Amino acid sequence: EATEKGGYRHFMLKEIYEQTRVLTETWQGRLGDDGPLAAAIGPQAEALLAEVESVHIVACGTSYHAGCVARYWIESRARIPCNVELASEFRYRSPVVPKNCLFVTLSQSGETADTLAALRYAKALPSGAGYLATLAICNKPETSLTRESDLILMTRAGPEIGVASTKAFTTQLVCLAMLSGMLARPNASAVHVAQALQSMGSAIEAVLALDDTIAELAEAFVDKHHALFLGRGPMYPIAMEGALKLKEISYLHAEAYAAGELKHGPLALVDDDMPVVAIAPTDDWLEKVKSNLQEVRARGGRLFVFADENSGLKSGEGLTVIDMPHIAEAIAPIAYTVPLQLLAYHVAVAKGTDVDQPRNLAKSVTVE
Ligand code: G6P
Repeated sequence: EATEKGGYRHFMLKEIYEQTRVLTETWQGRLGDDGPLAAAIGPQAEALLAEVESVHIVACGTSYHAGCVARYWIESRARIPCNVELASEFRYRSPVVPKNCLFVTLSQSGETADTLAALRYAKALPSGAGYLATLAICNKPETSLTRESDLILMTRAGPEIGVASTKAFTTQLVCLAMLSGMLARPNASAVHVAQALQSMGSAIEAVLALDDTIAELAEAFVDKHHALFLGRGPMYPIAMEGALKLKEISYLHAEAYAAGELKHGPLALVDDDMPVVAIAPTDDWLEKVKSNLQEVRARGGRLFVFADENSGLKSGEGLTVIDMPHIAEAIAPIAYTVPLQLLAYHVAVAKGTDVDQPRNLAKSVTVE
């Protein structure tokens, strides 16, 4: 087992570090000069994607969070409506399926019971009330999900052993960024996505250099019982994923909020006993996030902010700013996931939990 971990203390840490390579492998050979290539999905995909007028994404757990990011990307780039839903909810309701809607499942394992049931349910809708086609974005080949879907886009994360998903999530995001570009073509944003993806490897490397800083910061979380994660726009689902990682492996209660919702409830919880983690890249939301941070500070909250080095935010009383390298906006949600994975990892190690096999959780949930 020690050899399989390649010198790392846990599979999770090894898998976090592998992201530099696997994220690059996931886009390689799949980008053209005018954007991501539909051929990555299969020979018939280009004609089919040209017909798509809306997208429904269904998934569970971490994969669901990837879907939530994709909604921002698909709607802003391709200008078509996109809905994202938990598979366990979708499978028991009566969805209204718009015309020419693409049904997308996201799954690392390809065997999650609810996601598979959702796919079967989608395919069984009466003709005329159903989907245009089904696409599985999956990490494992030859699974129930890939066998039963019309189209497949493989993430190339390689085997993921740690129960808490890391590289499977970020490679899903690479695939979803590509899908948003394919749906947007021909359009400048498709070119932009393709260019940004090519800077992925070096961006992740630069973020991993923050590992020691994050390990130190983790100490502020070890004796706490609650933590709040804040983000806006596509960083809101990244905050959800950061909170989920912390819950899964360090058993801290963590909750994510869209920062604009603070005053509708969570501000009442803020005190110096509940660390607040915020994500502040330089995007359209930065100024809004800054004023949300003020709301937390004014109430004595202890803030940890992952911010672009050009954000203008500086550490001070009650505020620790972790400077992130500047990252192209199109891939920022992918890069900002990494410090949150490291944070959860170091908190769990400091607490002495079973990082790779957290209590009560399974890698793949194949029963309902
Ligand atoms: C389990 C795993 C999670 C995963 C979820 C969905 O809960 O512990 O890490 O995100 O299942 O799994 P899938 O294989 O469908 O992505």
